[in-house]
Amino acid sequence: MRVMHETLPDPSLGATMDKPARYDELRLRVRGLLEGEDDWLANLANVAAAIYEWLPDLNWAGFYLLRDEELVLGPFQGRPACVRIAVGAGVCGTAVAAGESQVVADVHAFPGHIACDPRSRSEIVVPVRDASGEVVAVLDLDSDRPGTFDAQDRGGLEALVAEVAPRIDWLRASRS
Ligand code: SME
Repeated sequence: MRVMHETLPDPSLGATMDKPARYDELRLRVRGLLEGEDDWLANLANVAAAIYEWLPDLNWAGFYLLRDEELVLGPFQGRPACVRIAVGAGVCGTAVAAGESQVVADVHAFPGHIACDPRSRSEIVVPVRDASGEVVAVLDLDSDRPGTFDAQDRGGLEALVAEVAPRIDWLRASRS
């Protein structure tokens, strides 16, 4: 029997850690999950699942892939979501247009926020770049509580994305 050697510890353990420690642990485990595997779909699916299981207060976590200048829903955990988002639209499209992470404490106060799930109250979106520095996707996390995400989440998720991005075949992932 093949045993998955790098599963996440019980999520309740994360609650005992401060945010930086929680993200260090997540990054370590994600590194293990991706080791020896180069299928972009399987890898992004496992990353979304690991985030969703390990971080508290999330109601959605996943990727949107940049395909033909438009964001298209990728691997995620949570309720079904909007499939296509134009660059510049919503929090996700703004992250691509600005080329910068967006930390939104109150989604109702963000002009143009796209409400895929009315329960979402706060959101963080981190651009994902390929080896040449082009934005190829975004990582999007939603919370049903206001103010869930701060600069530590931004730092933790940007480091996670930097760990994941080189392991993904973005040419394949960007094909529709
Ligand atoms: N709220 C996002 C849309 C994606 S969902 O949250 C999954 C936005 O405004 O871009």
